[in-house]
Amino acid sequence: MSEGPQAPRGTFDVLPRQAVARARVRAATAAVLQRAGYGEIETPIYEDTDLFARGVGESTDIVEKEMFTFEDQSGRSLTLRPEGTASVCRAYVEHGMHKLAQPVRLWYWGPYFRYEAPQAGRYRQFNQVGLEAIGSDSPLVDAEAIILLHELIAGLGVPGIELKLGSLASPQTRSAYREELAAYLQENEADLAPEVRSRIDANPLRAFDSKDDGTRRVMAAAPKLLDRLEGEDAEHFAEVRTLLDAAGVEYELDPSLVRGLDYYTRTVFAFTAANLGAQSEVGGGGRYDGLVEQLGGPAAAGVGWAAGIERILLALGDEGEEPRRDVFVAAAGDGQRHRALALAGELRRAGLSAEVDLAGRSLKGQMKQADRIGARHAVILEEDGGAQLKEMESGEQRDIDPAAVLADLTD
Ligand code: HAM
Repeated sequence: MSEGPQAPRGTFDVLPRQAVARARVRAATAAVLQRAGYGEIETPIYEDTDLFARGVGESTDIVEKEMFTFEDQSGRSLTLRPEGTASVCRAYVEHGMHKLAQPVRLWYWGPYFRYEAPQAGRYRQFNQVGLEAIGSDSPLVDAEAIILLHELIAGLGVPGIELKLGSLASPQTRSAYREELAAYLQENEADLAPEVRSRIDANPLRAFDSKDDGTRRVMAAAPKLLDRLEGEDAEHFAEVRTLLDAAGVEYELDPSLVRGLDYYTRTVFAFTAANLGAQSEVGGGGRYDGLVEQLGGPAAAGVGWAAGIERILLALGDEGEEPRRDVFVAAAGDGQRHRALALAGELRRAGLSAEVDLAGRSLKGQMKQADRIGARHAVILEEDGGAQLKEMESGEQRDIDPAAVLADLTD
């Protein structure tokens, strides 16, 4: 048998029953974030490649190997967005949002693209919900962002959530620490995985991410940035912790929390869910105080996060269900099909979901179909101009006035 066409590797289709589950998550997300004063923003699916190279960081995995980059007809290099923060910061600058009351609070939802090795919970096209609060360096904003992500995933019912919290300090402290860490890695070079060794100078912090046993042993004894926090960085971190404690959001300090994006400063965090296997991170983010300026905007501090919609759905085990119909309008004979179509239209305009047969089924076949799609009621339009209403669950059936079906159903 010849193979039919297939969606590209690492991508997937969302079928109607899954769309029901997604719509539920989206509605819950919009409710949580809009109640907190965040406005929805949509940015383009692709941006100038340079935005991500500058925003996400040249030495990150994302920019080095995971971007879908192409040239348009005029030879300009464009990239399918691998993440949302750089785009939202670009929009903040482009639309002069620094003139608005700060922080500007935004959220977004949509597809993102990374050329990663596909596995459960990791795709090449995936969906994120994200939040960015730009224009304030107050620890209140960090705390609010974390509390909202917690509220969102806990409220949806994601089981076994854990929050890991860390701080990457200011760029100055971090660069002193990077040197200290690079020296430590050099001393232990023999025990490190080759890819870690080759990155000691470019990005030594990423060594904390390694899954290699030898590297992990070395990293367990490595100096930790959290122990080097001082001055305002230490105060900021202490205040975020106090605010989370006051809100009753539990966390674990993770001194080795490094994230795959270069823009982070100070607070970083990640939520994991117990039943997700290897890709256990549902969502995460942190502060990025230099990013807006780095992209050519004013000095505006920011903090935000993103969560993977597919991972949320996987953790919930929510496979959705076929959308149910309120009414199936059946025609007892072909002569009644035009009446069925007209009545379905009337019912839909009144806000009910109503389906008619489009496949020329017999009355018996139509009633089977009504059952299959989980219709609550079936209206049978009879050849003599009369009508019957059948309650599908009980099977109870009675005559009704064909002119008053709507009134009867919305009683
Ligand atoms: P990120 O950690 O790269 O952060 O991605 C956020 C979330 O997106 C992850 O926790 C995960 O749930 C989901 N995700 C990432 N890659 C994939 C994939 N290949 N397949 C499925 N899900 C995936 C960011 O993107 C930052 N922009 C977050 C942020 C916003 N930081 C500050 N503001």
